[in-house]
Order: sequence, then structure tokens, then C-alpha cells
Amino acid sequence: MCGIVGYIGKRNAYPILIKGLKRLEYRGYDSAGVALISDQQALNVYKTKGKVSELETFVAEKDISGTIGIAHTRWATHGEPSPANAHPHYSSSARLALIHNGIIENYAVLKEKLQSKGYTFKSSTDTEVLVQLIEYIQDKRNIDLLAAVQLALREVIGAYAIAVLDRDHPDVVIAARKSSPLVVGIGEDEFFLASDATPIVEYTDKVVYLAEEEIAVLRRGEPLKIVNLHNVECEHEIQTVALNLGQLEKGGYPHFMLKEIYEQPDCIRDCMRGRINVENTNVVLSAIIDYKERLLAAKRFVIVACGTSWHAALIGKQLIETFCRIPVEVEYASEFRYRDPVIGSNDVVIAISQSGETADTLAAVELAKSRGAFIYGICNSVGSSIPRATHTGSYIHVGPEIGVASTKAFTGQVTVLTMLALTLAREKRSIDEERFLATVQELNRIPDKMKEVLKLNDTIAELAKIFTYAHNFIYLGRGFAYPVALEGALKLKEISYIHAEGYPAAEMKHGPIALVDTEMPVVVIATRNDLYEKVLSNIQEIKARKGKVIALVTEGDTVISKIADTCIELPETIECLDPLITTLPLQLLAYHVAVCKGMNVDQPRNLAKSVTVE
Ligand code: G6P
Repeated sequence: MCGIVGYIGKRNAYPILIKGLKRLEYRGYDSAGVALISDQQALNVYKTKGKVSELETFVAEKDISGTIGIAHTRWATHGEPSPANAHPHYSSSARLALIHNGIIENYAVLKEKLQSKGYTFKSSTDTEVLVQLIEYIQDKRNIDLLAAVQLALREVIGAYAIAVLDRDHPDVVIAARKSSPLVVGIGEDEFFLASDATPIVEYTDKVVYLAEEEIAVLRRGEPLKIVNLHNVECEHEIQTVALNLGQLEKGGYPHFMLKEIYEQPDCIRDCMRGRINVENTNVVLSAIIDYKERLLAAKRFVIVACGTSWHAALIGKQLIETFCRIPVEVEYASEFRYRDPVIGSNDVVIAISQSGETADTLAAVELAKSRGAFIYGICNSVGSSIPRATHTGSYIHVGPEIGVASTKAFTGQVTVLTMLALTLAREKRSIDEERFLATVQELNRIPDKMKEVLKLNDTIAELAKIFTYAHNFIYLGRGFAYPVALEGALKLKEISYIHAEGYPAAEMKHGPIALVDTEMPVVVIATRNDLYEKVLSNIQEIKARKGKVIALVTEGDTVISKIADTCIELPETIECLDPLITTLPLQLLAYHVAVCKGMNVDQPRNLAKSVTVE
């Protein structure tokens, strides 16, 4: 993970770099640093443990002049969070400074080689090895920075997005990537560089996404040049990004997470726009139609994902199996990629990822592709690595998600999976017309129903106060509600650090029921559907053991309200769309518990939004 930013042009680099780091803090925030070539041609590196705001305090009295610089916000992999391990890293002579996102897997071998030549190291990072290697090559062969970077990267095994400054050449930034993302922004006589487009859009909407093993040469007064590791010039396409600044700011909300929870009705509308017709009688995901022969020929679908996206995948399995009658398996991408899975040309692999950069999901895609499977991506971040690696796919179009705990991306993923299952089912004729129409029409009503749910915010905030001091939570659901229970528990864990487990409601009696006592809050998704009576029995079992039941029920429910300690009444919908409703109060509950506990909701400890390491 880690976020990297760079600037070269006519403006002062420092404010641009700091603002950029703040936009990228979602990628990691255990230390931060900046390198600037000052107006006096000094290469100044400032770095601290902690967040970008701490870096700002640290540099308050320092020389922050310079129109060229690079900056980094870190999520530690090699070496604890500390000033020494923070980036940028100097080379031995302090002539070069380098920032890095990724992992140099063969760093130990390279380090030994350099140590045997007398190099010493100030940090325990893999990154310092790379900057020393570049300087060693540059000195030994008397070559320029670009050539030295090319040779060094040819020795490197692993993942990297890097940017390097050379004090003796203050007119150029060299940047390169492999497996970790990097975007170049092109302005008037200036270049920007970042892990994603969010630090750039304030200044220009013209960007180039670097491809694998490409090196960008950002030189003052010259157009962008991109070469590969063998110095062959690469064609590049300048794209226009459609992000606006409002999407990247809190817009009056105290946290990005709350803003993103509240955005969901609009996001889901955006996600459906142009896909459901105005009469509400049809839904079409164009990629499904374009590749329908290939998709319908598949013997099975396998969905790969991580984290919250994996929970969406579990709902996708039920949707596709229900509507399309195609067997679906759901796999953690990290397990799939190392399991030598049985996968081939009869399979369709769906990769779900908000960021489109998750290393394990990307590796799973590459593995499945190499074995002949057809790959369909469901992503949010436009132009990211996974959409570029897949054969086709659909964006969820929910806008940038900045809070580390995923909210609107989850409901966007579930919406796309619903539309995917419906489009494919109609092509396959595996769904009857009446059910198809009823589902499309109800899907179209979901944003308004979400708005109703959000009106419960104050009630849920009050409820959260009661449970702020709980040490454990259980979340239960069945059928379509089971993945929602997992997601509800994950949200609470991530941001409030309360231990929480999601379980299939009936499975509870095979273990977790042993944990139930008067102290144990149990959240049960008990909305009206075919399994209602069964879930009711599960609630009775908990109450018999004096657990505290918080039940999500359908408006007007009079049965569970008599048994549960607390009921949250939700608008009625059809079972397969219920996750789009029941997820919202669980997001709000997690949010308010974390706020009551005084936690950093948007940047929970140890987590990062985009996990670009395995
Ligand atoms: C991290 C994030 C989660 C996310 C997961 C998968 O763990 O903190 O919110 O669900 O990665 O990310 P992806 O971008 O692939 O959906």
C-alpha cells in the first residue's frame, strides 16, 4: 500500500505534495515524508512517524522551498513505523532520494551484495536497498539516473511504484511501476505524479496511467516521455479523469465514512443509470450482452475477492445461482492464487475489487487468465489495474471511497451483481418474466428506501451509546442476510476494535451460542422473508440464554418486537435485495459505536484501504 506523490513545475512543490499525501492517507498512515530540491539546490528530506499532519508540524521551521519534490505516506511492511523507516530514503551520498510503494522481494540478497561493497543502511526497509543500488550502479558505470534506474529495476523481484530525485539534476523526476499503481498528471509546464488520480484532479484532468514496467521521465520543459526497462520508448494514451473535488472532500460531514454512508441512495442511482431503462422493464449490463456466448457457455463461475468485496461476492453467488442456475464458487483471492486451483477455459472468473489494485485479487486474475478462464471485473476505481487485466467487466460508479471501512462500494458491488444476474438470466431464459420485472422494479425503488433507512441515524446513534463498552458482538443472518451479518461484524471490528463475529444464524448453536450471556449483544437480521420463522427460533434461543438481541425487522413487525431487546424497523423489500437495505443500519451502528469510543473512524489503526501487498 503506501501513497506516493510527486511534482515538478513552476509552483512551490511542498503544498501540492502535502495536500496530495492527505488525499492518499487512506493507503497508509503510519509515517510520512517529503523530499524537495530547494531553491539553493539542496536535497532536503523530512520525515516523521505518524500522520501527514505530524509531518506538517515537523517541517514548520524547515526550508520547504523548491519546485520539484516527492512525498510518501506509509503502511509498514518491512520495518516498524519510525522516522528511520519512513520514506523518502536517501542514497549513501545523500545525492538521491527515493519513495516506494510495494515490496522488493529479493531485497535481502541485494542488501548483502551492497554491504559486501561497503554500503551501510540506516533503516530496515527494502526501499533503502533500492536507492542504494541505483546509486551504486550510477557511480560504477558513470551513467545517468534513468539508465541506473533501468538497470536496478532489472535486478529487482517484486512490486514497486517509485519516484526518484537526483540533487545534481534538479530538472527531472524519474518514476516507475510494476504491480503497484502510478498515475502521471500533465499540466501546463508541470507534471504531477501519484498512486491514484485524487491528488492530481485539482490541477489537471489529463492523466496517463503507467503500464507494467514502464518508467516515466518528467523533465522540465519537455513533453512526458515513457520508456521501458530496456529504454524502448512506449506509446501512451492521455486520458481525461472525471473526478471532481467535491467527491474528494467531506462536504460538511464529520467523517468520510458518514458522508459515504449517506451517499448510498445517489450512488446506487448512478450505478443503475443507463443500465435500467426508463420504463423500468429491462436491465442491461452491456459487457454481459457483448460476451454473452462466452458467459453462457461457462460450466461454472468463480468469484475472487478480499475483505468487504468478498462479502459482496457471497451475495453475488446467491443472486447468480438463484436467477441463472449456474453454479458459483466464492474464493478468497489470497487462497485461490496459491492453491493450484482447478480452473480452465470452461470457467468464468469474476474479480470484485473497489480499488482495482488489491494485490491478491490481481494475482488471482492473472492466474485464472493464464489457465484460459474468461475474466470479468467488477471495480470502482476507473482505469485501475484489475479492470485493465480483465477481459471485460462493469464499473460500479459510486465515486471515490475514502473512508477505509468500505460502505458505498459494497452496496454498489451488490447492485452490479444484481444487474449482472438479471441480465444474464434473461439471456439464458432462466428467470420468468414476472420475477424479472418485479426484481427490476424493486431495484429501482431501493434508493428511495435507502433514504428512509438513513432517517434512522439518530435512533442508531442513541443505540450505539448503550453498546460502546461491549467487548464482543455476534451478528447473525441466514440466506441473503448471512453475508450482511459478516459485513456488519467486519465494519464494527475495523473501526471500533470490538471483537465481532458474523455467523449463519442456525449455525450459532454449533459453537458461538456458548458465548451468549447477559453481556453479549447479538445483532440479528430478521426481516420478513421465507426464513423468517427459522430466524425467530434462533432469536428465542438467544433470549433463553439472556443475550441482548438487537433485531433488524421489517416495518410493522409485531412478533420479534416483543422478544428482542431492541428493534430497528426497515422498509420492506424482496429477499434478494434485502442486503441493500439491511447493510445500512449496520454501517451506522459501527460508525456510531466507533465515534462514541473516540476512534479515528476514517483511518483505523493497522488498516489501509488499498492493499497492494500480499
Ligand atoms: C482492504 C480494505 C477493505 C477492502 C479490502 C479489499 O482490506 O480495508 O475495505 O474490502 O481491502 O479491497 P478491494 O479494493 O479489492 O475491494
